[in-house]
Amino acid sequence: PKFETIAVETRGRVGVITLDRPKALNALNSQLMIEVVAAAVAFDRDPAVGAIVVTGSEKAFAAGADIKEMQSKTYMEVYTQDFFSEWDAFAAVRTPTIAAVAGYALGGGCELAMMCDILIAADTAQFGQPEIALGVIPGIGGSQRLTRAVGKAKAMEMCLTGRKMGAEEAERAGLVSRIVPAADLLADALETAETIAAKSLPIAVMAKEAVNRAFESTLAEGVRFERRLFHSTFATDDQTEGMTAFTEKRQPVFRHR
Ligand code: HXC
Repeated sequence: PKFETIAVETRGRVGVITLDRPKALNALNSQLMIEVVAAAVAFDRDPAVGAIVVTGSEKAFAAGADIKEMQSKTYMEVYTQDFFSEWDAFAAVRTPTIAAVAGYALGGGCELAMMCDILIAADTAQFGQPEIALGVIPGIGGSQRLTRAVGKAKAMEMCLTGRKMGAEEAERAGLVSRIVPAADLLADALETAETIAAKSLPIAVMAKEAVNRAFESTLAEGVRFERRLFHSTFATDDQTEGMTAFTEKRQPVFRHR
């Protein structure tokens, strides 16, 4: 398909989605939302793609949902259309996803980044949920995912005051896994994605499912879920290959099955 608000490419086994509405700091209008979700779902269905990177520009990952587009919507419209629920399809992607964030990641931009499995920040990254200043609240999971990531104190402060959090604070708080110099951001995210994509895709999907389960269950249930998934890894050719390669002192050649 032809996209107008994003650029999509495949680099080896890595799918890359670049948000590309520079004049609006990559604000997430409905076209961009539909395109990002379509691209992510297409990558997810492609067994030749083992990891997905989502990134923006140097100035902005995304400055939020498109305020100009939302401005005149009515309650009945947003309620009956279940406005923003399309993003759930992005969060449901099974292939590992990495957000590479430089500059502004605000509102829906912060929420999109938090929907990804790994968040890598440039030193220029700024995260925030400024919806309160517009008379709304986060609507794509921000109040939930930010709270799980950084805890109640910081999440409350950010959602109630709209204060932005820089890269250093975001790393300390556990929102991002790593900070890299802005100039190295994409290369670093691609390298991380390639590392993941070189592993067995079905096993990576299980690892992702297991970690995500920690947010959905009690510890005992989560551990049991993990144990069952772990058992099922023994049904794969890639488990045989991984362990055989180790004993033969060579690199494994995973065949994603
Ligand atoms: C629409 C946006 C936009 C947005 C920026 N632009 N953010 N358009 N929606 N979210 C547009 C500006 O209108 C402007 O267009 C152009 O992008 C450049 O932005 P400037 O403001 O001129 O840039 P700068 O002075 O550098 O300031 C950057 C900024 C500021 C601090 C990021 O743009 C800003 O505060 N943006 C809004 C951030 C925000 O509130 N996000 C949350 C959205 S609500 P023109 O045409 O004027 O040049 C949200 C809700 C989710 O995400 C769920 C709720 C239901």
